[in-house]
Amino acid sequence: MTTLTAEPRPDSLVGRLNLADPGLTARLHGGLADAESRLRETAADVPSALVAEWSRYLIEAGGKRLRPLLVLLAAEFGAKSDEADGADGADGAAAGRISDAAALVELVHVASLHHDDVMDGARSRHGVPSAPARWGNRTAVLLGDRLLVKAGQLAADLGDGAIRLQGEAAERLVRGQLRELTGPEAGESPVTHHFAVIADKTGSLLSLAVRLGAEVAGAPEPAVRALAAYGEQLGIVFQLSDDLLDFASEPADSGKDAALDLAVGVRTLPVLLALSEDGPRAAELRALLEAGPLADDSDRRRAAELMRNSSAEARARELLHACATDARDALAALPDVPARAALAALVGLVEHRSA
Ligand code: FPP
Ligand code: MG
Repeated sequence: MTTLTAEPRPDSLVGRLNLADPGLTARLHGGLADAESRLRETAADVPSALVAEWSRYLIEAGGKRLRPLLVLLAAEFGAKSDEADGADGADGAAAGRISDAAALVELVHVASLHHDDVMDGARSRHGVPSAPARWGNRTAVLLGDRLLVKAGQLAADLGDGAIRLQGEAAERLVRGQLRELTGPEAGESPVTHHFAVIADKTGSLLSLAVRLGAEVAGAPEPAVRALAAYGEQLGIVFQLSDDLLDFASEPADSGKDAALDLAVGVRTLPVLLALSEDGPRAAELRALLEAGPLADDSDRRRAAELMRNSSAEARARELLHACATDARDALAALPDVPARAALAALVGLVEHRSA
């Protein structure tokens, strides 16, 4: 197996957390660098240069590594986190298992992005052509499958608990995507349905990250429970801010297609709220969206403009802010260590993110 090393990322979330504790900062940088090497090695571990290159493409294109960071922060609540400081012997083994857990969660995430970009017909991801745009849908689907299977192999090395947690999260990811396709059940409110979908498609993976980090590091059960609730809620904050970015940003900012949710007809929270408004602008938006996916670029731009001028954006921001408060509240049950302040700061970064 080739050993690949990874430079610390210039846009690192750790730097933006403004941590007061230099020890924690050093552990996070070290853990992220180890997880990055593990991630790239695992993805490229295949006897074909071309498949190795394809498998590493989206991983190397970018991503904020939010999920690996969550694994590392959650591991700080574990009995084994002190041992994980060192790099040799038992200490090194504990640190290695935490880095593997961090790589595992990012592999599931990148796998899901391959499939998501096929489903959405997305042309770009992380500021580069998406995998389906680059190699076609068949290759992108298989690459997603491959990365998911590699994550499963890492889970098997970590033990039964990791396999169970990964299985649960992957099941919820797929269920969330399927429920997004089916729409609300008879009599179910579209907003309730939307929150269930985003909890499954995004909360599940952020919750996996913190639960896995905490369990691998031997954190006590009450801490695992509090972290799971935090991760679930942070996922909802993440997805709601993503929904707002869809029509608010230019592709250069987000590295994705602008107004893609609108174009493919995904009913995000701001869209649902805008559709429920009165007045001529809401009527025009309804007419545009009810005609089906917005194939035409000028229709897409007009829909994004109507969204920006509606009060739906402000109402969605209020709900986003309430969810961010819930995420911070979930941390109250945890001991007051520097990692807890870091998790609280992370909520603010996710709520106000621009990419
Ligand atoms: C991004 O949502 C997509 C997800 C959060 C989940 C995708 C899950 C699947 C495709 C199911 C398959 C899962 C596995 C494990 C292979 P989005 O389209 O709202 O966000 P975006 O703007 O980043 O595309
Ligand atoms: Mg998408």
